[in-house]
Amino acid sequence: MKNKFFITTPIYYVNAKPHIGHAYTSVAADILARWNKQQDRKTFLLMGTDEHGLKIQKKAEEAEKDPQQFVDEIAEEFKSLCGKLNINYDNFIRTTDKKHKEAVQKVLQSLYDKGVIYKGTYEGLYCVGCEQFKNKSDLVDGKCPEHNIKPEIIKEESYLLKMEEIQSRLIEKIESDEFKIAPQKRKNEILSFLENNKLKDISISRKNVSWGIPLPFDKKYTTYVWVDAFLNYLTGIGWNGSSEQFAFSGLSEMKWWPPDIQLIGKDILRVHATIWPAILIHLGIELPKQIFVHGHILSGGKKMSKTLGNVIGIDEMLKKFGTDGTRYLLMSAGSFGEDIDMTMERMAEKYNADLANGLGNLTSRILKLSSISNFQFLVSIQLPISDKQFSKKINQLKLDKALEYIWKVVREDNKYIEENKPWELVKTDRKKFEKIMEKLALDLYVISELLIPFMPETSEKIKEALKTEKLNEVLFKRIK
Ligand code: MSP
Repeated sequence: MKNKFFITTPIYYVNAKPHIGHAYTSVAADILARWNKQQDRKTFLLMGTDEHGLKIQKKAEEAEKDPQQFVDEIAEEFKSLCGKLNINYDNFIRTTDKKHKEAVQKVLQSLYDKGVIYKGTYEGLYCVGCEQFKNKSDLVDGKCPEHNIKPEIIKEESYLLKMEEIQSRLIEKIESDEFKIAPQKRKNEILSFLENNKLKDISISRKNVSWGIPLPFDKKYTTYVWVDAFLNYLTGIGWNGSSEQFAFSGLSEMKWWPPDIQLIGKDILRVHATIWPAILIHLGIELPKQIFVHGHILSGGKKMSKTLGNVIGIDEMLKKFGTDGTRYLLMSAGSFGEDIDMTMERMAEKYNADLANGLGNLTSRILKLSSISNFQFLVSIQLPISDKQFSKKINQLKLDKALEYIWKVVREDNKYIEENKPWELVKTDRKKFEKIMEKLALDLYVISELLIPFMPETSEKIKEALKTEKLNEVLFKRIK
């Protein structure tokens, strides 16, 4: 399909409630989807939950719940968070969906029939937190740096997926950007990993994990959770696991393939740049066009943790800053692609400065000035807005820079009002007053247009106010 945009987020583990990191990826993906829709592209945003594996099995046991009931409850919380953040997904896939499970089994059977999956023995260091095997060189003081736990040694008879044989093809595809990894530093990181380490065939089965999809050719085993999870990107747009659906690519369901952007966090880059393309190469399916890797949110310079007591709760943010306030603060907190540091105090300051005193104040001043002067807004005529600099920033996923670009106008216009004192001019120089108001009203219209993907409700409210010349509510109330 031409002129389409298919974007995915990682599917989130349901071992615990959603947190700010999940909100961050989801909001970014939603912005990109809304932006592409605004550019008249047919758009599909796929999200969902990753519901199998040892980590979740253990959590369900601890909670003394049946695993299905346990995952049902938490999956609901993820869906509900999407609602609260105004995320407009096109499908929310759960890996416990019947159709997904059937498709995974079909795929595994076909890979087994091709000889790409074979029986062997696998030995490695397994981190349950990551649900990944680790190299010794990945560990710090013998522990997984991500989860601060010592990985278990697992040695078992296993089914393995061939990885060694795809290594050189994979390097070529990454180098040439046929399979683009961005930002550049992440591409370099993965290329250097691939050049310095020989990929080992990996185990795709688990003997002692009951909470998983049984291997179709050996039901004593369940499927390794990452293989199950990766396939969501295909089943989520309607793949049933059969090659025919791809062979006749005119078929409606597969028209979205390949993904234009897959957003992920830096901790899951390696698996997305090795196991995931390996599966696709073995299946003869085109690779995603781009994997974009964002950084992590830190709190007060440190990784968030309950022990440190520095966790920023997403519900707390939503309560304090509202939906659009939260979307704005998440996306403007730092360069998209780098780690960013947040604290509740700094966010409250930024909220007051940029939203209450910035955009909110600008909007209410312009509308007040118009009401005292009977100024007729000319901007109710819909202008097509296309701003090349702004578009470029979004297309390069510089989402924070795109917001900065808008807020430069917000700040300049507030200053412009202070300097020109239109409330005085209205009495002394009506002509000049009208010229100033025209500029301000037009700027506000452009701002509302550029804000559509970032803050859809705010954009709507400003547009409505420009049309009706009334602002029905304070956009952003100052907070203490
Ligand atoms: N289930 C796997 C993904 C499978 S995709 C086929 C998973 N889930 S996760 O819930 O642990 O993480 C989901 C996403 O949230 C990852 O992209 C991860 O990087 C991101 N984040 C987790 N903590 C984060 C922050 N503190 N900040 C920003 N994003 C972070 O991994």
